[in-house]
Amino acid sequence: MIPIVTIDGPSGTGKGTIADLLAQRLGWHCLDSGALYRVLGLVAQRRGLDPDAVAALASLVSTLQVEFRNGRVLLDGEDVSEAIRTETAGNAASRVAVHGAVRKQLLARQREAARLPGLVADGRDMGTVVFPDAQLKIFLQASTEERAERRYKQLKQKGLNVNLSRLVGEIRERDERDRNRSAAPLKPPSGALVVNTTSMTITEVFARVLVAVKRMFPDAAV
Ligand code: DC
Repeated sequence: MIPIVTIDGPSGTGKGTIADLLAQRLGWHCLDSGALYRVLGLVAQRRGLDPDAVAALASLVSTLQVEFRNGRVLLDGEDVSEAIRTETAGNAASRVAVHGAVRKQLLARQREAARLPGLVADGRDMGTVVFPDAQLKIFLQASTEERAERRYKQLKQKGLNVNLSRLVGEIRERDERDRNRSAAPLKPPSGALVVNTTSMTITEVFARVLVAVKRMFPDAAV
């Protein structure tokens, strides 16, 4: 049996950071499922594909050569790590991700990531659809304003010119789409540990997650 921890939630809750920290601490594999949707969104945009061209998108999935190497994301050998992190790419990802046929094509690829000694998987439907038998499911939440504020600071640090109220609007729109789609909507899996990270630091969230991990996997090297 492969130990799996799923970490789901909307963007800006610290999911990715917590998943990376946890995988490093445990020496387990890490799956950033959002990166797969982001790469697909990016390719669709570059090829001028309509985000609702379901059949074309679904067949595109089988041709995508995506590699995760040393923290970088490679598409056909091209480093797209920065290109997939923009708000535009996030929105494109959310738009292609509404389609059940597209999601189905990505299922096997995500499940292949489950390998010994264990997996930490981060996304929207890790605990509900992709790894429903995961031993530990975590769901991170935070207020929209706080998530927009965090994103604002990140973008400012990168020297980008951003508008906070526009960010709030974009985050709201993306959440609504991710929550209200019929295929694998964003929601807490049953039995999940739900953590509201609004007024918590990453260190505090990580400490909380570690307690749950130690309880579920007493033999893991934490
Ligand atoms: O986690 P992220 O911000 O990188 O994800 C980008 C988009 O991809 C998100 O808005 C919806 C989609 N996504 C998804 O539908 N299912 C996942 N497991 C991960 C991401």
